[in-house]
Amino acid sequence: MTRIVVVGSINMDLVTLSPRFPDPGETLTGDRFLTIPGGKGANQAVAAARLGANVSMVGCVGDDAFGKQLYEGLVAEGVDVAHVTRVEGVGSGTASITVAGGENSIVVVPGANGRVTPAQVEAARDIVRGADAVLVQLEIPLDAVEATLRVAQEEGVPVILNPAPAQRLPAEWLSRLRFLTPNQHELTTVLGAQGETDFQELIRRAPCPVVLTRGEDGAWFREQGEPPRHQPGFKVEPVDSTGAGDTFNAALAVYLSEGLDTAVRKACAAAAIAVSRLGAQAGMPRADEVDAFLASQS
Ligand code: RIB
Repeated sequence: MTRIVVVGSINMDLVTLSPRFPDPGETLTGDRFLTIPGGKGANQAVAAARLGANVSMVGCVGDDAFGKQLYEGLVAEGVDVAHVTRVEGVGSGTASITVAGGENSIVVVPGANGRVTPAQVEAARDIVRGADAVLVQLEIPLDAVEATLRVAQEEGVPVILNPAPAQRLPAEWLSRLRFLTPNQHELTTVLGAQGETDFQELIRRAPCPVVLTRGEDGAWFREQGEPPRHQPGFKVEPVDSTGAGDTFNAALAVYLSEGLDTAVRKACAAAAIAVSRLGAQAGMPRADEVDAFLASQS
């Protein structure tokens, strides 16, 4: 069974379904309100577990009611939470999400996610050792991300970095990655290439292999030294794109042993299924659903 370690954020998503996005200063009446477990790290952990991987999560929740719910939610999904810490006196991370017309806007308050430390990552070295891949994103402090890259490299484990929310990163960090998995905006920001729109050129310029997600256009990907290749996207009726990128990353890691082309194709399929359903973790598919979806496409 594929073994994945996810180092990252754990949020409660406060989701409002709205007929449209409000203008600044405007009050709108929404259709529905839901609290759904989320956070890019926890989403990737749950998605990988649903796809059949053995998953361990490294992260923090607060000592509030959300923290208890989030922790228990991970346990219920079969994720190993031995390295999820409950931080005293701090609220859990939250994401206030408005969903309208299949699109979303998100404001994240890090809360306990801001307490993930290099020491916590170091303490998880034993579970990193022997993993097939480590997944990490940028919703936790950067020194913890750096520690993740260092520990994984020392243990010889490939790292997939999903650079979201985007920020500029040192080229030296990128050169340690098995894959960087940005969208176009994130790739531009990570490389400090604002204003440049030729994404294929940016993929070539990155100092590491890149899998670039492009929504309906699918994904463009490149191994070092090779030209970029393209996996077209799958057409679905969009309901909620929240967590689709997280599903993509998890599937990429889980299916990488089947070869990069297959992994990217299955990742696009898993993300398409997630987009067609409401909620981040609520919408994530199981492996048999990905296989059935792909069979229905051919
Ligand atoms: O990627 C989607 C996630 O981003 C949401 O679940 C929300 O928690 C934010 O972290």
